[in-house]
Amino acid sequence: TAAPLIDNFGRQVTYVRLSVTDRCDFRCVYCMAEEMTFLPKAQVLSLEELLIVARNLVACGVRKIRLTGGEPLVRPGIVGLARQIRALPGLDELCMTTNGGRLQDLAAPLREAGVDRLNISLDSLDEGRFHDLTRTGRLGRVLAGIQAARDAGFEHTKLNAVILKGRNDDEILPLVRFALKRGLDLTFIEEMPLGQISDHDRAEAYMSSDEVRARIRQEFSLEAVADETGGPSRYYRIPGEQVRIGFISPHSHNFCGDCNRVRVTTEGRLLLCLGNEHSVDLRAAIREGDPSAAEVDARVRQLLHDAMAIKPERHHFDLKDEPQILRFMNATGG
Ligand code: GTP
Ligand code: 5AD
Ligand code: SF4
Repeated sequence: TAAPLIDNFGRQVTYVRLSVTDRCDFRCVYCMAEEMTFLPKAQVLSLEELLIVARNLVACGVRKIRLTGGEPLVRPGIVGLARQIRALPGLDELCMTTNGGRLQDLAAPLREAGVDRLNISLDSLDEGRFHDLTRTGRLGRVLAGIQAARDAGFEHTKLNAVILKGRNDDEILPLVRFALKRGLDLTFIEEMPLGQISDHDRAEAYMSSDEVRARIRQEFSLEAVADETGGPSRYYRIPGEQVRIGFISPHSHNFCGDCNRVRVTTEGRLLLCLGNEHSVDLRAAIREGDPSAAEVDARVRQLLHDAMAIKPERHHFDLKDEPQILRFMNATGG
């Protein structure tokens, strides 16, 4: 195995978010514009190339890979890819973030392929509202998908809700009750200013995690607990309940100081921070030069190590003068 990936601030990269497609069957209003163009196939990493990237990341000390998108479940061959990545020696956890719309068919195969844990987006429990927020999503399918995940044996499934003031902030308590009833963790997310959207004004729709917690405390008490996932979420527990309520607060509680992650875009850009453009081109390292496996691996590992020198200290998201980042979330992999 190769040397670990440590940046100039002493942070070791152990968690990688690997985007397997920029496509999605939903069009969530905070993530995409209504009309989107997607990348031509030639620009997207093939399944073989995704495995090369994963293999070298794990060789360099990455312990957790999360498959993202777009919607990872629209990528043909995703189950086989998951099985191959899960089998890489040294990987502790293979996770996936999904919109849940296809889990009725895919939860059992994913579990069988060895996927350890799922995060499922759920911004509303009202059918009409859900459709407004996702533009094309159907709540019934996602609820059935959540059930399918449980039936398939997935544990510690986490729900994600992006809260927009005036749109779904009245669903904070219903979402908490839903999570409690099903024994699911739930994380509330502050919207991040990626990509130019026209659906709403992000500064106006901003709701801080403090406000969300205040809303929850009208009905439940919350106690802070230590985090074990290595993700950006800060967790609380409701006394007497098993589930955890998390908060991802890029604006109100910066978590970059203990960042342990990077992401790989669908095009094979190793993006060193969600809120900056610093990146290296893994696709070029794979496609250009001697194609033997040993040479490809050597080039990819060299680039991974080189990239550590340009990992930025933090993001500087600002809702007043956005977007500073033109990339949309779906092209980025969160
Ligand atoms: P676990 O902690 O493993 O359960 O997952 P996670 O919360 O890291 O992943 P998930 O895909 O559920 O992401 C939830 C939200 O966190 C998404 O909106 C991501 O864009 C955001 N997120 C993940 N990593 C980062 C990061 O490094 N910086 C910022 N600003 N947001 C992040
Ligand atoms: N800000 C915050 N979260 C976002 N997501 C998508 N776009 C944004 C955004 N602009 C969330 C999705 C999903 C996770 C991968 O990222 O709801 O749960
Ligand atoms: Fe699709 Fe997820 Fe973006 Fe919604 S947030 S449009 S489900 S990629």
